[in-house]
Amino acid sequence: MRYKLKPFQCRPWTLSYLSVKLIESHYENNYGGALRRLNAITEQLESLDFANTPGHVLNGLKREELVALNSTLLHELYFASMGGDGQPTKAMSEILARDFGSFDRWRAEFRAMGYALGGYAAEHSLCVASGVPILALDMYEHAYHMDFGANARAYVDTFLRNVDWPALELRYEDAAKVPAPRLLEQPEFGDVQGIGVEEVKEMMAAGKPVQVIDVRPRAAVSRLQDIAEGVQWRDPEQLKEWIGELSKSEPVVVYCAYGFHVGCKTAIKLREAGFDAKYMNSGHSGWKASGGAMKLQP
Ligand SMILES: [Fe+2]
Repeated sequence: MRYKLKPFQCRPWTLSYLSVKLIESHYENNYGGALRRLNAITEQLESLDFANTPGHVLNGLKREELVALNSTLLHELYFASMGGDGQPTKAMSEILARDFGSFDRWRAEFRAMGYALGGYAAEHSLCVASGVPILALDMYEHAYHMDFGANARAYVDTFLRNVDWPALELRYEDAAKVPAPRLLEQPEFGDVQGIGVEEVKEMMAAGKPVQVIDVRPRAAVSRLQDIAEGVQWRDPEQLKEWIGELSKSEPVVVYCAYGFHVGCKTAIKLREAGFDAKYMNSGHSGWKASGGAMKLQP
């Protein structure tokens, strides 16, 4: 497959304080260059006999492909980000205030990133996984040096005066419709609810009444000697032996190794016996993954 050049995404002669010459050179040399590089890499990849290509050759090409592809896409987005009057729409202003505290706070962070010559997509490749970029500011020197010399700050401020906010709002609407990648969907275990590790830890730290019990199967516990701090282990097979130790006036949280069957089944049995019982999601491993304190099993 060959990638095709996107037409100009803004009218260069309408931008304030960004010269036509700068935008033209950026489009022709840097955007065009990225696209031509991308197509050359693609052609090379298409000609490879993958079974007989050394790993380092393939690694190098795939890395270069990613950089050239993102450079192409981000340049298209960069040009599309300009052409407006820099006045945020009401909706975008509210959305940014919701997510960043205030519109000004967002703008301060965005500016500071530009001033720092840093970026959210350094080398065109560091992006949030499954994020959808909707506004791009190019901080490579080729984006401003011709007009601003080394004055990157003036360039960032000028860019902000040119942002096309109504177009940004439409891209935000599109991006907000993209659902997060689906993860494992656990079937419901009757009316038993799972509770997050963080929530359990907060209850314990706040001294709220809660009875937390590790019910990993005996084999798992004798093999792995650690246990969560402040938690008792009880054999899930011997529920009848220890159920009498529990109080019905305080909630009970049980968990197994990973938060699946054993913990859930134990919680169901406890609920049937009249306890306010839940199982803890992710179990013993979740406790450790969240940095919970551990002790050696006596
Ligand atoms: Fe660029």
